[in-house]
Amino acid sequence: MKILLTGSDGQLGKEFSKIKLINYKTNKKDFDITNYYQMKEFIEKNKITHILNTAAYTDVENAEIKKQYTLEVNNPENLIEICKEYNIKLIHFSTDYVFNGKKINYTEKDETNPINYYGYSKLLGEKNIQRKLKNYLILRTSWLYGEKENNFIKKIIKNTENNEIIKGTIDEISSPTNVKDLLIPTLKLLEKDSVGIYHISGDGICSRYLWIKYILKYLQRNNKLERVYQKDFKLIAKRPIISVLSNEKIKNELNIKINHWKYSTFEYINFLKTNS
Ligand SMILES: NC(=O)c1ccc[n+]([C@@H]2O[C@H](COP(=O)([O-])OP(=O)(O)OC[C@H]3O[C@@H](n4cnc5c(N)ncnc54)[C@H](OP(=O)(O)O)[C@@H]3O)[C@@H](O)[C@H]2O)c1
Repeated sequence: MKILLTGSDGQLGKEFSKIKLINYKTNKKDFDITNYYQMKEFIEKNKITHILNTAAYTDVENAEIKKQYTLEVNNPENLIEICKEYNIKLIHFSTDYVFNGKKINYTEKDETNPINYYGYSKLLGEKNIQRKLKNYLILRTSWLYGEKENNFIKKIIKNTENNEIIKGTIDEISSPTNVKDLLIPTLKLLEKDSVGIYHISGDGICSRYLWIKYILKYLQRNNKLERVYQKDFKLIAKRPIISVLSNEKIKNELNIKINHWKYSTFEYINFLKTNS
């Protein structure tokens, strides 16, 4: 196996970059997933057999404005073409936002129906991969956080400074996921040479409000926390109300446990405390 990682400066990409098994760790400059000729040259020179694609356009609000750019990155036609041409296995990440949020515990077999442009662009990417490639993995996850700046937990920590009032939505429910919790399941699927769609998120479910409540508890901060609705923020993109992904398929097939979101949030905050 010769594995190339894309998007290595992103939250998930940074975590996968730490793994020795990955031969080439590339960012947008070295390996732009929209640039056919740049990718072709790299692939031919280095005889890549697997591409782990963590590159994406993940700004849900701006995706409503920069639609063409969002689509180019999230439905990576050129990357898919390259994988087909060179017989490369594509391991691609996707999102709970491919669902409309009207059901609890979405399985891999459930009907997709995105309600924002980011979700729509990611779904087109999924469909294109399924249509054009035989050897692929699509790994859907939710509410990711890692070492990169500006993730949800780090934003809350910043907001707690100066005793600010924090607002948490009760009509956004899913599963927070530490990028670290995606590594072992992904590598095991690779090892087994599995094909198809899999859901992998932190175990358990919560609203943004409840997640913040636990973040404040673990930080030992006493900021006032208000329950609000999506409509109380001036958002352009609607978020699904309940987009929890079922982990059953991956847990059964790999015989693994996945950390509960509370445990991983606690560990992450401890990590930040000890490294600040
Ligand atoms: N973040 C979440 O909450 C979340 C939830 C569910 C699923 N996911 C999915 O999980 C995956 C990883 O997300 P993430 O949070 O790690 O995203 P991220 O932090 O936004 O990282 C994505 C990386 O891709 C790079 N990139 C953008 N366009 C590119 C291109 N044309 N060629 C190569 N690289 C490019 C970005 O570079 P620039 O920043 O320079 O543009 C960035 O470094 C994505 O597929 C995402 O859709 C994320």
